[in-house]
Amino acid sequence: MNVTAPDWKREYQTPHGLTVHPASPVVGARITGVDLARPLSDGVFKDILDAWFQYLVVVFPGQTLDEDQMVAFAERFGPLNKSANPRTHHNKKNPAIMLISNIREDGKLIGAHPDGEMHFHTDQCHQEKPCSATMLYGMEIPSRGGDTCFANAYYAYETLPEALRRRIDGRRAMNVYDYNHADTRGGTFDIREGVPHASHPVVRTHPVTGRKALYVNRLMTGFIEGMPRDESEELLHQLFIHQERPEYVYAHKWTPGDLVIWDNRCLLHARTDFDASERRLLRRVTVLGEKPV
Ligand SMILES: [Fe+2]
Repeated sequence: MNVTAPDWKREYQTPHGLTVHPASPVVGARITGVDLARPLSDGVFKDILDAWFQYLVVVFPGQTLDEDQMVAFAERFGPLNKSANPRTHHNKKNPAIMLISNIREDGKLIGAHPDGEMHFHTDQCHQEKPCSATMLYGMEIPSRGGDTCFANAYYAYETLPEALRRRIDGRRAMNVYDYNHADTRGGTFDIREGVPHASHPVVRTHPVTGRKALYVNRLMTGFIEGMPRDESEELLHQLFIHQERPEYVYAHKWTPGDLVIWDNRCLLHARTDFDASERRLLRRVTVLGEKPV
């Protein structure tokens, strides 16, 4: 698919009457003029998809969506992950829905990923087929912080110094779901027994746009394969610094009613810290993805 380069400065009207407002000079757009609670025509959905492939993350402010309406919209992007299990806080009634929250009921957390900052990552990169897209709907939002920051991984690859690009050419990295490392993370770590992990190319090609993106991240990439560990450590450190440069990042400040969907194949995200005494509740749905190549 040939995706036209987006105009990062000017808002525009789509053929089916939506308005697309670029959110930053590098990534993200807000889309207005659509009620996602209603079924969408193919034309309107194509406008949304076109903007999504151009801007990588799109935000629909002011939406009122129940679970079924959110699931119906998400299913337009592809089949959803419905692997409900108690550990991942999927909703038993609607297994595509997972809650992200720090709220406790009867002393028990009602959602996953409750508190604090989270390093940059792509969702489910520790699985063989990570989700292609993640959709979040903001319901209760702290007065400050808890922003979701997005980093454009196409730009990270395209602007990589030639010497670094040569070092990662054809390489694969091991991605590990082991958040024990998240607080102290500086680079390489090994796979502890029983921890989910998957090997993926360091540079992946987007299956729709054909563009290449840097596909490692500070939270979950353990090491680059086939390389001494100290060299892997040093190389990953440089890649993380490069891909997280503020000029590639857009920080989304949440308002209740925001519906956000991003493309995990070409975009990293992180969360800023927030006051743990304030309530935070978001609904999450993920779209099944393909094996990265
Ligand atoms: Fe995430």
